Amino acid sequence: MTTGGGSTGLQQRYADSLMNTFGPPKLVLARGEGPYVWDADGNRYLDLLGGIAVNALGHNHPALVAAVTTQLQTLGHVSNFFATEPQIALAEKLLALVGAEPGGGKVFFANSGTEANEAALKLTRRTGRTHLVAMRGSFHGRTMGALALTAKAAYREPFEPLPGDVEFVAYGDAEALADAVTDETAAVVVEPVQGEAGVVFPPEEFLRRAREITSEHGALLWLDEVQTGMGRTGSWMAHEASGVTPDVVTLAKGLAGGIPVGATVALGDCSTLLGPGNHGTTFGGNPVASAAALAVIETIERDGLLDNATKVGELLRDGLVDRRVTEVRGRGLLIGLDLDRAVAPQVAAVARRHGVILNDCTPERIRLAPPLVLTAEQAEEFLAVWPAILDEAYAEGPA
Ligand SMILES: Cc1ncc(COP(=O)(O)O)c(C=O)c1O
Repeated sequence: MTTGGGSTGLQQRYADSLMNTFGPPKLVLARGEGPYVWDADGNRYLDLLGGIAVNALGHNHPALVAAVTTQLQTLGHVSNFFATEPQIALAEKLLALVGAEPGGGKVFFANSGTEANEAALKLTRRTGRTHLVAMRGSFHGRTMGALALTAKAAYREPFEPLPGDVEFVAYGDAEALADAVTDETAAVVVEPVQGEAGVVFPPEEFLRRAREITSEHGALLWLDEVQTGMGRTGSWMAHEASGVTPDVVTLAKGLAGGIPVGATVALGDCSTLLGPGNHGTTFGGNPVASAAALAVIETIERDGLLDNATKVGELLRDGLVDRRVTEVRGRGLLIGLDLDRAVAPQVAAVARRHGVILNDCTPERIRLAPPLVLTAEQAEEFLAVWPAILDEAYAEGPA
């Protein structure tokens, strides 16, 4: 039943018409501009979640709007019987960004992170091995293959049995990884930073050790950079600092700034494992999504947004420190913090009342993944109300 266009009416219409997979929406949003969004009642919010690390250029960015509009006016969709230049140019660009040697890699385009991972999982099967090693605390998506690699019991258990021969080891534990990987292991899949778990970092040498261990056993090293890639941490890829060359990198989220796209980037010999008929998708590599991703990349380069992410990220992390905050972690504009009480949902709710969107990813953890265009002034605007948000949330206490 239609009961109106304000938030209350729309919430009711949502409840009446959408599957309840996400719980009730926190807000009904109507429009956005830069790092701000407005709800259906006209209230403004500083969006420090950016569509969960997706809206790299914020909302309504002219470069993204122009690229999508122009491409749609030129050629909107063709299917994968045909190629288009934006798709080819994007594949070339992504190979360069992950550091492929010329001719030393290949890309498969999908529409989301879970699909990028699904393609990577199928690629690992083409090694002739099935054993996979994933990390506790991992999140790789919700399709059955990606879910098989996702550690969280609440997500997995309702759908078991899941495909695969997957073993989980403690995130960051190189000794446990060395024990788990054998000559039968197809791949080790690792997030360089675990975003959904609350922005959790492995020990500094872990990726390098993971590379050594996989190489010793002829297994692939697959890095899931769906959340951490494309400039989120102040470098194109979060694994760059480790100096490691992976075999497979999966990307999505911020890649096209909000237009759905995912990419499975394979380097070296494994890049030819998937052949004709092995995998496919109707929309993947669509010219509009590809043009959007190219515009996002060009804008990040032109406007120095990697440096901006590093600079504004530092400012935010310094300003988030508080006597009730036991740890602030992060790199670039992927930031997590731990509270000394399980009041993260209250903190997020009170923040919304103060016109700020942030995310309670566990009962004690808050995550920020704002647009890479966030300015120091806009970050300060939030930091000025941060102590008041904590005061009110702690006064309300856990529900
Ligand atoms: C590391 C990682 N991999 C995969 C996914 C799944 O991506 P999508 O939601 O686009 O399917 C996510 C989403 O949060 C993620 O953080």
